[in-house]
Amino acid sequence: SINESLTRVAVYVSLLALYWLGGNKVKAGELSIGTVVSFIGYTFTLTFGVQGLVYTLGDLRGSFAAVERINSTLCGSEIDQALAYGLERQIQPKEVQDEKFKLFVVNGLHEKQSKHMRYMSALGSSTDLYSLAWSGDICLEDVHFSYPLRPDVEVLKGLNLTLKSGTVTALVGSSGAGKSTVVQLLARFYEPTIGRITVAGEDIRTFDKSEWARVVSIVNQA
Ligand SMILES: Nc1ncnc2c1ncn2[C@@H]1O[C@H](COP(=O)(O)OP(=O)(O)OP(=O)(O)O)[C@@H](O)[C@H]1O
Ligand SMILES: [Mg+2]
Repeated sequence: SINESLTRVAVYVSLLALYWLGGNKVKAGELSIGTVVSFIGYTFTLTFGVQGLVYTLGDLRGSFAAVERINSTLCGSEIDQALAYGLERQIQPKEVQDEKFKLFVVNGLHEKQSKHMRYMSALGSSTDLYSLAWSGDICLEDVHFSYPLRPDVEVLKGLNLTLKSGTVTALVGSSGAGKSTVVQLLARFYEPTIGRITVAGEDIRTFDKSEWARVVSIVNQA
């Protein structure tokens, strides 16, 4: 902005010089007043045009930087590393019945592949996950949960709950009982501290988060 101020001062000084010089020439009869006035008008237009261009370029640079930041953030969040580590502790490799769901085939993978890659969903498209989600019950199995910012308060203490497929379940309880918390866990905004949530027998943590987000719909209270 120091640069900007200096430029501005320079422009104004030049304009003043132009006025003074032009005035003197008109007085001396060397130039007609019309020529000086139109020259000053032309200078103004040129100055503001160039200034506008410079500002626009500056804005563009800011926009590009912002887009780059957004992209790098989005790229960085694709693999949930904490989640991948968590899975390693809790889930054992299992037999593959369906080609589409070969989620835990660890041994078949090449060494060079990232440790986290093997936990990423192998589902071809979200329609597969969608039909899987509709094919069985949703079960919360011994779910314990505390919010990360209040680890000392256990909101859910060993919740077991089955949401029957094809039915509507109403969760009723006093304010602060943890109803919304259950919904947040189902949507995977948070993960259970202990226990797991399954749909049609599959741990929901095995699905790619963005694919899971396409399957879950939430309408929040106002
Ligand atoms: N983001 C959060 N961080 C820490 N504690 C939270 C957070 N959200 C909710 N809690 C706490 O978790 C407990 C359960 O809250 P929750 O919102 O799930 O209750 P609820 O049953 O939906 O209540 P309501 O009927 O008022 O909607 C409450 O004690 C609340 O204070
Ligand atoms: Mg609520």
